[in-house]
Amino acid sequence: MKVLITGGKGMVGSFFKDAFMEVGDTVYAPGREEMDITDREKVLETIRMIKPDVLIHCAAYTDVDGCTLNNRKAYLVNAVGTQYVTEGCVDVDSRMVYISTDFVFDGKKTTPYSEVDVPCPLSVYGQTKLLGEYYISHFLKRFLILRTSRIFGEKGKNFASSLPSLMKKEKKLVLTSNLVNSPTYVADLVNAVMFLIKKGGAGIVNVCNKGECSWYEYALKIKEFLKIIDVELIPVEFEDFQNRKAERPRYSVLDTSLLESLGISMPHWEGALQKFLG
Ligand SMILES: NC(=O)c1ccc[n+]([C@@H]2O[C@H](COP(=O)([O-])OP(=O)(O)OC[C@H]3O[C@@H](n4cnc5c(N)ncnc54)[C@H](OP(=O)(O)O)[C@@H]3O)[C@@H](O)[C@H]2O)c1
Repeated sequence: MKVLITGGKGMVGSFFKDAFMEVGDTVYAPGREEMDITDREKVLETIRMIKPDVLIHCAAYTDVDGCTLNNRKAYLVNAVGTQYVTEGCVDVDSRMVYISTDFVFDGKKTTPYSEVDVPCPLSVYGQTKLLGEYYISHFLKRFLILRTSRIFGEKGKNFASSLPSLMKKEKKLVLTSNLVNSPTYVADLVNAVMFLIKKGGAGIVNVCNKGECSWYEYALKIKEFLKIIDVELIPVEFEDFQNRKAERPRYSVLDTSLLESLGISMPHWEGALQKFLG
């Protein structure tokens, strides 16, 4: 297969790149400097030149607070950029895989969100990612939209990789106790997506590790697994959290029954985290 990955140097994109290369696919994974998705001509020219069998769209402005502070950039990258990538896929009849987010939901439910629940994003990040979903599902016949949450992994900046050193440095850390979703190990996400691609999966599918937790509970597990004793973790409600800029869903756990019916059972996040932390 010929695979083109946008955002190929990001946390998820670089993992996809390695995984596709490992199974012998021909992979193109340009970073922003080689293919800025807000440059329509460049996007169309690159997709026309490569004619990928599958395009994995990982490029996004992913800083949730940054998107609120700089909503023009968020709209340009996440919505308009995705529109250009979609146009390119229509042009060469390429199948598209889009990594979307639990932040398309408002978090007012108390049970996991399924693929048919109606999105209602609270933040600019969620709104612009949802616009991306709309372009793809309206203009493409062959697409797969994966909604996932709180990804952690070896490459890139994420909570599970940066928290251990912070825990060793600080005496006290304040963490939110009422933002609940499912952590997702990038390796499990990529394995599931590659399986779905092979199986010809289509439409919207939720992909995340089993189980759920708040950021506070997540940090407690990291502390326990790494046996860090000198730091005190303090739970705080998001409403009382200083420095909050973007609104976030309180409960955005994704229901993975559809994924399971397609033959994939995701590991529990605690086991995945332990594996990641070694
Ligand atoms: N991380 C999560 O918890 C999470 C959860 C749900 C969904 N997702 C989705 O998963 C996908 C991958 O996220 P990630 O965690 O791998 O984020 P990431 O590490 O921030 O990767 C995003 C990549 O997109 C690139 N990018 C930004 N603007 C671009 C532009 N204009 N043109 C081309 N590339 C551009 C970034 O390059 P620069 O570094 O040069 O800006 C970066 O390499 C995103 O679509 C995100 O919305 C992530």
